[in-house]
Amino acid sequence: MAASLIPKEGEGMAAKAIEIRGLTYVYEAGIVALRNINLSIQRNEFAGIIGQNGAGKSTLLKNITGLFKPTAGNVMVEGIDTRSTTVAELATRVGLVLQNPDHQLFAATVEEEVAFGPRNLGLEPAEVAARVEAALEGVGLLHLRREFPPALSKGDRARVVIASVLAMRPHIIILDEPTSGQDYRGCCQIMDLARELHRSGHTVIVVTHQMHLVAEYTERTIVLCQGEVLMDDTTRRVFSQPERLRRTHITPPQVTMLGLELAPLLGLPEAVLRVPELGDAVLSHLISHSK
Ligand SMILES: Nc1ncnc2c1ncn2[C@@H]1O[C@H](COP(=O)(O)OP(=O)(O)OP(=O)(O)O)[C@@H](O)[C@H]1O
Ligand SMILES: [Mg+2]
Repeated sequence: MAASLIPKEGEGMAAKAIEIRGLTYVYEAGIVALRNINLSIQRNEFAGIIGQNGAGKSTLLKNITGLFKPTAGNVMVEGIDTRSTTVAELATRVGLVLQNPDHQLFAATVEEEVAFGPRNLGLEPAEVAARVEAALEGVGLLHLRREFPPALSKGDRARVVIASVLAMRPHIIILDEPTSGQDYRGCCQIMDLARELHRSGHTVIVVTHQMHLVAEYTERTIVLCQGEVLMDDTTRRVFSQPERLRRTHITPPQVTMLGLELAPLLGLPEAVLRVPELGDAVLSHLISHSK
């Protein structure tokens, strides 16, 4: 990851990346998509948002980026009320990779695509070029800079959109189902990129239906159910409660379920999230019983 992508500590940087109070969002058709949501996301968190189809995940993300304004309540991004600013201003603080990245692609070349946002900020051409270069380097796409985006693989198209977001240098990066339609390798590459962004100082929020990715990568998980926050805790504690998760039609990763089944036998103090954790627990059990 290029060092220049690391967000700088700036003036007016609030301690909380996102602060949501009493957020209700009603679509014009009268559909209440979000009901009284209260959430705080600290700077440099890596959080997952999960929940069944229609739970309100994308609607929540669009409220955070200012694309939608709350019907009631407030959304503050780095201390700024989304109602009192523009989407363009917010885009320098929070970047959203939409559920279908193809909806965000429109330019003739990869570099034009990535340059669009910074150019719209009115930056000098040299600064635009530097940002494009750093963002493409960050996602490993420098070699494809002159390609036609729709002709790229799905994984690379997703990376172009992530680069477009990075070029705006937002502190907060939100990915709405970035791995949908990707094969296993593509999923890991995108999630590894998200992890790198987190490690370089960004606040990262990922929405996904793939529970093993949530377990593998995130620290905190927010569970939405019918427009409300059902759970908000460490990912480990969230996945240790399969009964509650069932309310929003979610099953923890297979390895976690197996760990919960074997917990009495193995004496596991907490839920396992990854295969090696369970492997280690089984091994210690076998060793202690073979003595
Ligand atoms: N443009 C719209 N007009 C009216 N209702 C909408 C609109 N977009 C979404 N909804 C409704 O709002 C609710 C929340 O939808 P949202 O897309 O936020 O869910 P989601 O959790 O992102 O689902 P998915 O996992 O399928 O992406 C659903 O009941 C949905 O039908
Ligand atoms: Mg969605």
